[in-house]
Amino acid sequence: MTAEDVGGERARERALLQAEKMETIGRLTGAIAQQFSELLGAILQRAAALAQSSPPSRDLDELKETAQRGAELAHKLLGFSRHKTLDLQPLSLTEYVREILDTLRRELPGNIEVQFEADEVGGVVEADPAEVRQILMSLVTNARDAMSKGGTLHVEVRRARLGAADRPLHAWIEPGSYVSVAVSDTGTGMNAATLARVFEPFFTTKPLGIGTGLGMAMVYGLVKQHKGFVHLYSETGQGTTAKVYFPAVYRRMPLEADSEETLPGGSEAILLVEDDPTMRSVAQGLLEKVGYRVLAAVNGEQGLATYRAHRAELHLVLTDVIMPKLSGFQLYESIRRDSATIKVLFMSGFPAPNYRKTVGLDAAVAFVTKPWTASELLARVRQLLECSPR
Ligand SMILES: Nc1ncnc2c1ncn2[C@@H]1O[C@H](COP(=O)(O)OP(=O)(O)OP(=O)(O)O)[C@@H](O)[C@H]1O
Ligand SMILES: [Mg+2]
Repeated sequence: MTAEDVGGERARERALLQAEKMETIGRLTGAIAQQFSELLGAILQRAAALAQSSPPSRDLDELKETAQRGAELAHKLLGFSRHKTLDLQPLSLTEYVREILDTLRRELPGNIEVQFEADEVGGVVEADPAEVRQILMSLVTNARDAMSKGGTLHVEVRRARLGAADRPLHAWIEPGSYVSVAVSDTGTGMNAATLARVFEPFFTTKPLGIGTGLGMAMVYGLVKQHKGFVHLYSETGQGTTAKVYFPAVYRRMPLEADSEETLPGGSEAILLVEDDPTMRSVAQGLLEKVGYRVLAAVNGEQGLATYRAHRAELHLVLTDVIMPKLSGFQLYESIRRDSATIKVLFMSGFPAPNYRKTVGLDAAVAFVTKPWTASELLARVRQLLECSPR
C-alpha cells in the first residue's frame, strides 16, 4: 500500500463512521418527528374546527401559528431523516437552478453580488424540484448569513464524472456520472469543530431565533435520498463551498469504464503550487499518472523560486489562490512580468471577485473550482495547454 492508499483508506473509514452516525441520528429523529407531525396535525385540525364554530380570537390565532411553526420544524426533521416521499422527475438542473437563483437573488441584500456559471450543455438528473429548491434555499441562506458585511455568492452547475481517481478527495463516492451544484460564498468560513458537526440536526452557531440548526441536516438527508452526495470545503475567514452531486439520469458507468485511460493526459512540464499537503499529493499523483512531468512547491514563495529555476522547461503553472506569504495571484503577477505566454491555472474553493481585475483579458489563464474531480482538473489542464498563445 502506498501512502496515498493509506490516506485514502483512512478518509473512507472516517466517511463511513460519519455516515453511520448520521444514520443513527436520522432514525431517532425520524421516529420522533413522525409522532410530532401527527400530533401537531391533529392540533391544527382541531384549531381549524374551533375557529369555524367560535368568534374570532387572538389566542386561537396564536395557537394555530405556534402549531404551524411546530409542524414546519417536524417537516424539516422528516427531510433530514429521509422520511419524505419524493416526487422524482427528470430535471434539467442548469435551467432549474438558474430560475431559482433569479428569485432568490431578489431577496438578498444589495451588498452581496450573485454570480452564476454553468456548462454549455447541461445535465439531466432525476430529482424532486420542490426539494432541490429547498436544498438551494438552505445553502443560499447560510451563505447570506456568513456574509453579513457583503461579499460574493457564486453558484456553479457542472457535469461531473467521478471515478477511482477521485477516491482520495471524495471518500464517499460511487463512481458514475453526476451533475454538481456548487454554492460558494466569501463569508466567515467554518473552523474544524463547526465543520465536523455541521450536518447534525440542531447544531447552530447562530443566536436563538435566527438559526434552528436544521438547514444543513435537511440538505444532507434530502441529498442522500436523491442518492447524491454533499461535499463541503471551507477555510476560516475566506469562505465556504458546498457542492452537491446529483446522479445524472443517463450513463451511470461501472468503475472500469471510468478508469484512468479515459482521463486526458500529456507530457508537458507542470509547476504545481499548493500548500495543502493532501490536495498537493493528490494533484501530483493524478498529473503524473497521465504522463505530465510535475514540479511541486509547498507555497507561493517556493513556487516562484521553482519557476525561476525551471522557467525554460515549464508549460503550465497550476496554483492554489489562498496561500500564506505569497498568494496565487501575487505569484501570477510575478510570473507574468517574466513570461507573457506561460499558461496559469488557478484552483480555489471560493469565488474570486477580483480575479478578472488581476488577470484582465489574459487568455492564457483559467480557473478550476475546489474540490475538483480528476476529470474536471485534467480536462481544464488539457484545454489550457491546447489553447493558442496570444
Ligand atoms: N456557508 C456557511 N458559512 C459559514 N458557516 C456556515 C455555513 N453554512 C453553515 N454554517 C455553519 O453551520 C451551522 C449549521 O448550519 P445549518 O444551516 O444547519 O443551521 P443554521 O443556519 O444555524 O440554522 P437554520 O438553517 O435552521 O436556520 C451554522 O450555524 C453555521 O455555523
Ligand atoms: Mg442554515
